[in-house]
Amino acid sequence: PSLEKDFLPLYYGWFLSKRSSENLRKTGQAFLDELASIKVFRKEAKALEDPKAKIDLTGYFVKRPPGVLHCTTKFTDYGKAPGSDDYAQQEAVKSSYGKAFFLTISALFITPRTAGARVELSDQQMLLWPGDVDVLQPAASLPKGSRAHITLGCASGVEAVQTGIDLLEFVKLEKAGNKGEEIGEIGGGRLLSYGNGLWMLQLSKKIEVRCVFSGYYG
Ligand code: 2AM
Repeated sequence: PSLEKDFLPLYYGWFLSKRSSENLRKTGQAFLDELASIKVFRKEAKALEDPKAKIDLTGYFVKRPPGVLHCTTKFTDYGKAPGSDDYAQQEAVKSSYGKAFFLTISALFITPRTAGARVELSDQQMLLWPGDVDVLQPAASLPKGSRAHITLGCASGVEAVQTGIDLLEFVKLEKAGNKGEEIGEIGGGRLLSYGNGLWMLQLSKKIEVRCVFSGYYG
């Protein structure tokens, strides 16, 4: 019986169904393609000198998650990460394992490092959210669930963990009263620029994705 104990996954999270995953990838793709054609974005990306030059954001965010997309709750690193055991032993985590959920996506974002989807957690889903991950160093604690996201892609040399940190950066700006500069309505919603290469598309119609809560062992 001791064999079945104490072997934690690399991470826990919500794993999208194949169909939801494919649809979200397509939506993300369409966003990148449209963004690349927008004048203010091209200007910031310094591609205005040659108006015909194609900005290839898909090629830029070259590291894409293999398999179905997911929203990490707790990165447990096979039990080595701080707080792993506490998380794994929570009643909500145990009782939700293998259960189906719908996650709500409210926005898409890109930075010079990452592209992702912002996830809005329900009260029930919040029970699965760890208490120690919504922290932006140095010492900025943000509201619970602020970091919830789905990585769509990372630039070359950037690790996936960066997407959540980048989302926390947007939330920190929002908290400081920076609502972003409204660039206009584009396909799917309102495009906001926060400066320094931070762009967010607030979806006019939130996207629901079907998921299963589980662990990934690698
Ligand atoms: P992500 O959730 O932003 O995509 C495997 O590497 C998965 O675990 C990825 O999905 C990755 O980021 C997430 N991950 C890796 N290291 C992490 C860390 N230190 N903290 C939180 N999530 C991490």
